[in-house]
Amino acid sequence: MVFSAWPYINSEPHLGTLLHLISADYYARFLKSIGEEVISVSGSDEHGTPIEVEAIKQNKNPKDLTDKMHERILEILSAFSVELDNYTRTENAVHKEFVKNFYLQLEKNGYVFKQTTVQLYCEKDKIFLPDRLVVGKCPYCGYEKANGDQCDNCGRLLEPTLLIEPKCAICGERPVKKETYHWFFDLPKLSKEISEYVKTLDENVQSYLKSMLNEGLKPRSITRDNKWGIPAPFKGAENKTIYVWMEAVLGYLSGVIELEQKTNKNLFEHFWLNPETTSIYFIGKDNIPFHAVILPALLMASKRGYNLPKKIASTEFILFGQAKFSKSQHIGVWASDALNVADGEYWRYVILALRPERGDSSFNWQDFDKMVNSDLNDKVGNYVHRVLVFLNERFGGIVPADESKSKEDEEFSKSIMGIQEDFIRLNRDLRIKDAVKKFVEAAELGNQYLSSQEPWNKIKTNKPRASSIIFNAVQSIAHINFMMYPVMPKKATKLAETIKLAKIVKLEKWEVIPSGTKIGRPEPLFQKIVIKY
Ligand code: MF3
Ligand code: ZN
Repeated sequence: MVFSAWPYINSEPHLGTLLHLISADYYARFLKSIGEEVISVSGSDEHGTPIEVEAIKQNKNPKDLTDKMHERILEILSAFSVELDNYTRTENAVHKEFVKNFYLQLEKNGYVFKQTTVQLYCEKDKIFLPDRLVVGKCPYCGYEKANGDQCDNCGRLLEPTLLIEPKCAICGERPVKKETYHWFFDLPKLSKEISEYVKTLDENVQSYLKSMLNEGLKPRSITRDNKWGIPAPFKGAENKTIYVWMEAVLGYLSGVIELEQKTNKNLFEHFWLNPETTSIYFIGKDNIPFHAVILPALLMASKRGYNLPKKIASTEFILFGQAKFSKSQHIGVWASDALNVADGEYWRYVILALRPERGDSSFNWQDFDKMVNSDLNDKVGNYVHRVLVFLNERFGGIVPADESKSKEDEEFSKSIMGIQEDFIRLNRDLRIKDAVKKFVEAAELGNQYLSSQEPWNKIKTNKPRASSIIFNAVQSIAHINFMMYPVMPKKATKLAETIKLAKIVKLEKWEVIPSGTKIGRPEPLFQKIVIKY
């Protein structure tokens, strides 16, 4: 199961948000191309205070806002060739029903309790201020803009009342404390299991959770006094909703049920309840606590035997120059701006090649220029074009026979096959950033091969030799195409049609385009983009 964090759809996404969706799409395509059985799911996270705050700002009702934004994000995903098996939304009926039953089950299993608590309340707006409705100073690290539920600087989960100098996010006034009651998830009951479980995860993830686990797990409230959200199913909680995070993470399950209903295949049991399933979650590091602690704890507490997350592929941030992407400060690249500059598939390459796997990475237009104009256009585009045009002009588009194979051809094919093996291994190790550059590396090698073998000089004097060179060059394009496919699926599919490759799958053999195949005149794969910076 391949999953991406569900984006809040309070605003147009920027590249940092798209990163996870593109990574999941990339990875699901890669796995499918090597013959694995895969489902991929994500959706719009449309409840909670991020949406409410935006709706208040725009003077709209939240549902109207998310209806509009969900449509918009579907357009954006399609422009970036993101085609998950199910991209849904948390307002869908299957999800809401699943969440309701899930929490009733948890209550039955003894993991839910009700308690009165003191919460922050804004007397001006007449509402309680949970989560992102309140900002203040983090009590742990001193960060000034911590939210009520989490500090984005040190990553710790917070409670609004822990904030130092809290302010209402709507009006800026200082809230008062007021008593209310909520239903809580008894997280401490699972402390031991969670500590054990976390040890199975990636080092990065473990170190991110260190302080949270050392301080001891605390009960998390499940309910909110907000109106916008999924109604809480507990008796006496008729006027409460479920905390957005506590339901959104269940979308990974409900999204598969929805897909099962759409496709009429037995997917839920086959994937979620099958111990052989591997699951992988593409998320930003600030999402780690909810995916590596809360979600597995909820799954454990349900006692249904659901698979716990196996791999949490978390990334750091993509910076814009030196600064973090920020909506309020207008720093970053937004989807629509990006699409005005270049085709979505060019961006997939750029974003994946910048994937901040080990540390933050930084976006700048110089690098963008180099990646698009040098890597894609000059290396890959040129190589493919040179070979296919030569094939058309000198061989009438008919792939020649490998008549006079030389040591150099042998070496060339071995190197390309080696790059393909590296590509697969890197992907398996989730080193996507390095894996996506492999098709460029292979094309570079192809260019060198052509330059050293000079088929254009041999075509008259030694035609069998020229035939072999072109035969092998054509084969290399098929292998390049296989590696390019998950990065740029539409481009690769088009190229596959051009070279008469029936299906994009792992190519076990070097010779995949038989001699005698008729290949038409190619269209240029890429275009240069002039960038002023
Ligand atoms: N909407 C959250 C964010 O953007 C991520 C939610 S992931 C989910 O930070 F799985 F909980 F949906
Ligand atoms: Zn902090």
